Amino acid sequence: MPVLSVEDLHVSVGGKPVLRGVDLALEPGRVHALMGPNGSGKSTLALSLAGSPGYAVTRGRAILDGQDLLPLPPNERARKGLFLGFQYPPEIEGVSLREFLRLACAERGQGFCEFHKSYPQAIGQLRMEAFDGRELNVGFSGGEKKRAELLQLYLLRPKVALLDEPDSGVDVDALKLIAGAIRDLAEGGAGVLIITHYPRILDHVPLSDVFVLDGGRIVEHGGPELANRIGEQGFEVVRG
Ligand SMILES: Nc1ncnc2c1ncn2[C@@H]1O[C@H](COP(=O)(O)OP(=O)(O)OP(=O)(O)O)[C@@H](O)[C@H]1O
Ligand SMILES: [Mg+2]
Repeated sequence: MPVLSVEDLHVSVGGKPVLRGVDLALEPGRVHALMGPNGSGKSTLALSLAGSPGYAVTRGRAILDGQDLLPLPPNERARKGLFLGFQYPPEIEGVSLREFLRLACAERGQGFCEFHKSYPQAIGQLRMEAFDGRELNVGFSGGEKKRAELLQLYLLRPKVALLDEPDSGVDVDALKLIAGAIRDLAEGGAGVLIITHYPRILDHVPLSDVFVLDGGRIVEHGGPELANRIGEQGFEVVRG
């Protein structure tokens, strides 16, 4: 049974219909990929599922644990176990990385002691010890911001993770760290959706499904070989 079912999702942004009936199911313990041309609506899908303001859902449902997430405010969706890793992580001045993570983990029900055990382990795993006292994402390089997103993922242990281009701008070593965190999460039972343009990251994770979004709809659904075909031949392979 899917951990997240998106059914007939229609979303408009700035008055323009971007998603026009998206159907997608994420299975627990599996890694899925979402590919599609620039501007096809991949980030719109992730942001609207997370409840970002300005994304008007005009039709559809997104069921997690038997409940439709879409009427809930963003913090309730996160509390229920939905995580969004941003394509462009925002810089938050005046809030340290450690304090941000401590508060976020408390919202997910993790006590003080649990956090103080898991936090050093997580920053060690993602090699982010030097960022401990820094303001969240402020002045971080592109690749460092992506690692900070994955650090949140590692600590929050969501049921569903939507990761918007976790591989963009990261070096080969960081890519392996990020892929390792994604693998661990899926092994722990989460349903993961990686939005990406490149099959490269997909070589490092146990990929099960590939969805292709085009024109505001899922136009193709296949196995890992679909990502390689797109990588080699572009989106013509799904347009026929
Ligand atoms: N505020 C807005 N007003 C009007 N159009 C918008 C707005 N925000 C997004 N769009 C449009 O929605 C479409 C989908 O954008 P989205 O960011 O979801 O694409 P994407 O598939 O994630 O692309 P990329 O691969 O480049 O990240 C684009 O055509 C974009 O210009
Ligand atoms: Mg995008």
